Amino acid sequence: MIFPEFDMSDKIALVTGASKGIGRSIALTLAKAGADIIVTARTEEELKKLVSEIEGFGRRAEYIVADLSNTKEAINMANRALEVFGRVDILVNNAGVSFPQSALEVTEEAWDTTMNINLKSLFFITQIIGKGMIEQKRGKIINISSQAGLVGLEDHSVYCASKAGIILLTKVLAIEWGKYGINVNALAPTVILTPMGERAWADSAKRLKMLEQIPIGRFGYPEDVAGAVLFLASKASDLVTGAVIPVDGGYTAR
Ligand SMILES: NC(=O)c1ccc[n+]([C@@H]2O[C@H](COP(=O)([O-])OP(=O)(O)OC[C@H]3O[C@@H](n4cnc5c(N)ncnc54)[C@H](O)[C@@H]3O)[C@@H](O)[C@H]2O)c1
Repeated sequence: MIFPEFDMSDKIALVTGASKGIGRSIALTLAKAGADIIVTARTEEELKKLVSEIEGFGRRAEYIVADLSNTKEAINMANRALEVFGRVDILVNNAGVSFPQSALEVTEEAWDTTMNINLKSLFFITQIIGKGMIEQKRGKIINISSQAGLVGLEDHSVYCASKAGIILLTKVLAIEWGKYGINVNALAPTVILTPMGERAWADSAKRLKMLEQIPIGRFGYPEDVAGAVLFLASKASDLVTGAVIPVDGGYTAR
């Protein structure tokens, strides 16, 4: 009997947007499963704290401060990440922003910031890390999309467009890079109780309306997403690529 393999020992993961929320939980979960971790975000203080928590699990960890709204910084971050431990086996593109507002109110600045962080920097980081994975003929790329990449959500026009873009990028890269042993998948979470989730769903009437449409009857926690990342980062998912896994309590099952 061959059992599926979830052990992450000797793997090196890069997690973007790791300073808080979902990214922080992903970084700690992969470290607990045995991986060494490179974390990146804008706030050095939070990253330093996270690095010492990861080291507490007996793993190696390093941080890189970068503002992903600036694609040049994103590209520098990705090149630097390849140097830190000599390679990257797992890339989790988690950093993202949302500025909920009606389509009529969207400014060019909000469009550019959202698209730069959620889609453009994600693509160029993936291109750089992907080249390294192609050389080593293996790699796991996990993109954090959203239920908002699968269905339209009021007041989320730009966010939905960016998250839907991530889903099609995921599929194209899965097709192009499958022959190099690289798996590229996306997760589509529902509302997750993080600083972003709390901000976006602060209005109690909207929050209740959303909650009523989730068959499982609750919002998510960061560890709900981290569990799915662990599967997609592990050998257990070697035959899964180009997939979009909803982590949404059934919201998009309707
Ligand atoms: N919370 C939710 O309800 C929810 C639902 C579905 C998908 N998501 C997605 O999950 C991911 C993480 O969301 P979260 O809820 O943990 O958000 P959060 O706001 O709590 O954390 C976002 C992370 O991204 C980083 N980030 C933001 N702007 C950045 C920038 N300019 N440069 C570098 N890093 C930056 C932050 O430092 C932070 O680490 C995002 O891509 C988000 O779109 C969140």
